[in-house]
Amino acid sequence: MIRILRRTAMMLALATPALAQTYPSQPVTLIIPFAPGGPTDALSRIMVEPFSRELGGNVVIENVGGAGGTIGANRVATARPDGYTLMLHNIGMATAPTLYRRMPYDTLTAFETIGLVSPVPMTWIGRPDFPANGFAGMLAYIRERGDRVNVAHAGLGSASQLCATLLQAQMRQAVTTVAFRGTGPVFAEVMAGRIDLVCDQTTSTTPYITSGRVKAFAITADARLPSLPDLPTANEQGTPFEVTVWHGMYAPRGTPRVVVDRINAALRATLRDPRLIARMAELGTAPEPEARVTPEAHRAFLEAEIARWRPILTAAGEYAD
Ligand code: MLT
Repeated sequence: MIRILRRTAMMLALATPALAQTYPSQPVTLIIPFAPGGPTDALSRIMVEPFSRELGGNVVIENVGGAGGTIGANRVATARPDGYTLMLHNIGMATAPTLYRRMPYDTLTAFETIGLVSPVPMTWIGRPDFPANGFAGMLAYIRERGDRVNVAHAGLGSASQLCATLLQAQMRQAVTTVAFRGTGPVFAEVMAGRIDLVCDQTTSTTPYITSGRVKAFAITADARLPSLPDLPTANEQGTPFEVTVWHGMYAPRGTPRVVVDRINAALRATLRDPRLIARMAELGTAPEPEARVTPEAHRAFLEAEIARWRPILTAAGEYAD
């Protein structure tokens, strides 16, 4: 397999000048390694129209959920490195290498980084009839009921799983976690009262919170958001708890540099689109500063994040499932 990929990469390198002129000449698949309806999917769907326009081709979203994003990421790691398979993924790229005993790919060698996309705060939300209010109420309920409280997440190596792990480690209290293929399918379960709690990003939770279909307890940012002005931060409710999820775009390793640069230019132009910026603000996020939307800044940040999370998640080991 590795030999075939290497040969493909060599053939692509020889064809690079021609490729630069014709790319993209067919639809580009953007893999979302989670189920539809979650925050990664939501971010991709508001980006796809300006991104297609800036790239000058048709970008098609494909959801490949499961195993905390690693199944979709593996699809990209093993795809032809020709620029026609890309991925939008989150902070899980940096936590999965510590959480999995065996990964199907090496995060640092299997991908070309294209650029960072946007940082998104998280929110703790719960079923509409959750019998406590506010973050302190939620924590007291967890303390009282322990593992009789169920908390959904999108699998080992997902942002929601990171958030659930950090809370349990901070409280030194285990809950019962329930893994889904993404957090999209979790909302129906929360609204039906079958899932007690989930920590998920504002890009997917905002419409549920503002319409009152779920109970919201706290935002994990350092300040309230204009898009959710009534939702206090965990910090202001007396329990420091901050998590921000970052997103980045990837291509398979070996994608020619001219193509990476072309995709990066399209991504940077996309993130300057005023309508996209306005839509992002409604969902509690914003584009990364332009200096971070480069392959080099993204790679350096990914490396730093893997190193940052390793000791934290190793220490939280007993709560990481
Ligand atoms: C995550 O927990 O990583 C995301 O919420 C998963 C998703 O986008 O569905």
